[in-house]
Amino acid sequence: MKSDNNPESIDLSKLPRHVAIIMDGNGRWAKKKLKNRVEGHKKGADAVRNIVTASGNVGINILTLYAFSTENWERPRTEVKALMKLLENFFISERDNIIKNKVKLQVIGQVWRLPKNVQNLIRELTDTTKENTGLILNLAISYGGREDILSAFKKIIKKIKLDKLKPEEMNEETISSHLYTAGLADPDLLIRTGGAMRVSNFLLWQIAYSELYISKTLWPDFNKEEFLEIIEDFRLRERRFGRVSK
Ligand code: FPP
Repeated sequence: MKSDNNPESIDLSKLPRHVAIIMDGNGRWAKKKLKNRVEGHKKGADAVRNIVTASGNVGINILTLYAFSTENWERPRTEVKALMKLLENFFISERDNIIKNKVKLQVIGQVWRLPKNVQNLIRELTDTTKENTGLILNLAISYGGREDILSAFKKIIKKIKLDKLKPEEMNEETISSHLYTAGLADPDLLIRTGGAMRVSNFLLWQIAYSELYISKTLWPDFNKEEFLEIIEDFRLRERRFGRVSK
């Protein structure tokens, strides 16, 4: 099924609704080019712009990008500062594009740990775009999968203490609906660039049945063409969710 409204001319059947990406390899990209690590992150931000556009054009519903983990706070102060500046620049420079393309911006993670100006930009843009019906761009910033589960447990325990929830009525949906990703379908496809075979504390609960794709490409070199190839690879897979083939 090709569509004229689908500029990437990709078969729309079996398209992943939710794609999550671990954007790894900025540092190695910079090292290879004898540049500072921050240059790798800057080039990585350009790749973010390209993949957000491609996701919207292809018709993916949700794109979740791992932009900054809870562990990344331990990086050298100058690198953390540069990453925060890149996020600030991204929200300022992409604001018009995001609004024009009806993108709905959401952020998951410990937003309160971010610099105040970044928090303000996030608050303003998530609020402005909350009714948008296009791509949901879900940025994981100061995010950790274990922290996500821990904070969900704290919210649940509070409700139990207030008699708003009975432990015997709890099920998997109770946990899903208290995570930062509440209301979003779980990722169908998890892509990791940079070649490492690990999940690095990303969406631990949510990726239970996600299809995995590890690309050796370093994130700054990741482009629309490879992204579309991976989507095509996903379409050809048979998802069994623990059951047998049809
Ligand atoms: C991992 O590469 C990447 C990060 C820790 C940061 C990701 C940030 C960006 C892509 C740019 C800013 C994001 C947005 C949304 C504008 P690494 O530094 O661990 O690479 P390495 O494994 O090669 O050292």
